[in-house]
Amino acid sequence: MFRILTMLLLETQLCVVSALFTVEVPQQLYVVEYGSNVTMECRFPVNGSLNLGLLTVFWEQKSQGQSKPKEVYTLRNGNAFPPSQHHDYVGRAALLHSELKWGRAILQITSVKITDAGSYLCLIYYQGVDYKYITLEVKASYKRINTQVMRKPGEDKFVFMCQSEGFPLAEVFWKNGKNFNLSGSANTTYTLTTDGLYSVTSILVFKPNMSENYSCIFWNKELNTETSAHISTLALMSTQYSGQKSLILFIIPMCVMVAVVPSALIILQKRKSFKNRQPKKGDDFNSQTEDLYLSTVTASKDIGSVGL
Ligand SMILES: *[C@@H]1O[C@H](CO)[C@@H](O)[C@H](O)[C@H]1NC(C)=O
Ligand SMILES: *[C@@H]1O[C@H](CO)[C@@H](O)[C@H](O)[C@H]1NC(C)=O
Ligand SMILES: *[C@@H]1O[C@H](CO)[C@@H](O)[C@H](O)[C@H]1NC(C)=O
Ligand SMILES: *[C@@H]1O[C@H](CO)[C@@H](O)[C@H](O)[C@H]1NC(C)=O
Ligand SMILES: *[C@@H]1O[C@H](CO)[C@@H](O)[C@H](O)[C@H]1NC(C)=O
Repeated sequence: MFRILTMLLLETQLCVVSALFTVEVPQQLYVVEYGSNVTMECRFPVNGSLNLGLLTVFWEQKSQGQSKPKEVYTLRNGNAFPPSQHHDYVGRAALLHSELKWGRAILQITSVKITDAGSYLCLIYYQGVDYKYITLEVKASYKRINTQVMRKPGEDKFVFMCQSEGFPLAEVFWKNGKNFNLSGSANTTYTLTTDGLYSVTSILVFKPNMSENYSCIFWNKELNTETSAHISTLALMSTQYSGQKSLILFIIPMCVMVAVVPSALIILQKRKSFKNRQPKKGDDFNSQTEDLYLSTVTASKDIGSVGL
């Protein structure tokens, strides 16, 4: 490609018309979301109807720390020239041909990747030659946050986990429902994905003293954006609540029994006492009921501690 470039520049120096030929960029900086599509535009003068056979458009990308530029798209004398296209852009980069007649060389890149960021050169040759640079920035907000909460086996501590992917690297903060900062006891690590994104995982281990909502906040410092997820311990503590529920279901029938049995017995007793008039037996029944009630309470305490 370097040869073509030199050739074009040499040709231009000999050409007097070239002084009038300038490439313009309506927008110098594009900031796009990872995975989206982007169209970047360079304009060139077309006098009357476009003679496509005389048009050559060359797009090239170079990012920081990258030694060699990548060829993104080439239109040579009105025809696409794919052989020299960098494999990163195969099937993702195209020139919007319908716009060329208006003097607009629009490059479209689909499913933008982190590695697409950088400086783009558009060089246009059409009875003259000129070029401009356009900057592309790619960001990836930590949109989807995966959350997990579990109980530490054998301990009364909880393990909270938040994981998400984005770019650039985010910091993670934790807080409880009362905005109390819990970040101090969190451990945040990251890895790089093959797509160039940061996969950030933050783990918080601590003992909550009640059921509360906890939040992890991903702060993208460079973009100054925040995303957050909420974790409730309710689901884990619900074993305790369902324990209480079954307790209630157990107590009510017991109370009914406690209430019904003696009155039935009393009625029975009264019928009997009509016959042999012995009040002692009534006392026996009352103490029996008390034993029964006490055992219910003990049982409920057991269930409660199982739940905790
Ligand atoms: C990106 O462009 C492709 C091809 O033109 C299209 O199928 C896709 O829906 C576009 N995606 C977005 C997010 O606009
Ligand atoms: C545009 O084309 C007309 C005739 O087709 C010519 O006279 C004129 O000089 C051209 N202008 C430029 C800027 O090339
Ligand atoms: C944080 O987690 C990593 C990986 O699990 C571990 O190697 C490191 O020791 C942990 N750091 C702290 C301060 O707990
Ligand atoms: C829960 O613990 C925090 C400290 O971790 C304390 O400030 C707060 O008062 C406690 N709340 C209750 C209801 O015990
Ligand atoms: C936790 O959040 C949910 C939904 O956001 C809310 O309904 C619930 O009342 C919250 N619980 C506490 C203890 O703040």
